[in-house]
Amino acid sequence: MKNFIAPSILSADFAKLGKEVDDVILAGADIVHFDVMDNHYVPNLTIGPLVCKSLKDYGIKKPIDVHLMTTPVDDLIIQFCDAGASMVSFHPEATQHIDRSVELIKSRNCKAGIALNPASPLSLLDHILDKIDFILIMSVNPGFGGQKFIEKSLDKIKKCKEMIDKSGYNIEIEVDGGIGINNIRSIKEAGANIFVAGSAIFNSDSYDDAIKKMKQEISAN
Ligand code: DX5
Ligand code: ZN
Repeated sequence: MKNFIAPSILSADFAKLGKEVDDVILAGADIVHFDVMDNHYVPNLTIGPLVCKSLKDYGIKKPIDVHLMTTPVDDLIIQFCDAGASMVSFHPEATQHIDRSVELIKSRNCKAGIALNPASPLSLLDHILDKIDFILIMSVNPGFGGQKFIEKSLDKIKKCKEMIDKSGYNIEIEVDGGIGINNIRSIKEAGANIFVAGSAIFNSDSYDDAIKKMKQEISAN
């Protein structure tokens, strides 16, 4: 599967968000990871569909990957798909009807993903594998950027990859939280192909160097 670097704009400077996104795309970003927090499902509050639409209107062409850390999710799914999102993921614990929420994303022609917290089991995916496009494995607890990668996530990614291969479905694995130049290779080797990185990119001296080095790490095998 092709590899994608997805900078999380949670760590960007929101006072100049359009330029920040332009800059990471120029530096080689493939996907724009857009973290939505509601101060309810997670203890933090971020950005909504208006900001997604603003980025599209500003001219951002790369796919916008909306990670909903909210409850409920259905109304926001509709709003974000209408605002120009290309991918939408949600946490299964945050909706009453997982299948319905996935269907809602697909009905708006967006790619649908299920996001699993560090302690959420892969078995939550058992009856939805045939409908999803990607699985987002959280390698930190959701809510904040700049946290440390939880090492045991590697084993979960491997098991997830085995599960997908066994199923025969074409599902991508996105990993989110604590990813940097130092560990991206092991995350790829475990089976992931979409790599979210917030602080490792936006807090670096050069977006160009950070993304280039990450790409080198994952193309070296
Ligand atoms: C955490 C978010 C992540 C976060 C990643 O709840 O879902 O996308 O911004 O940030 P880093 O890469 O700094 O861990
Ligand atoms: Zn995220």
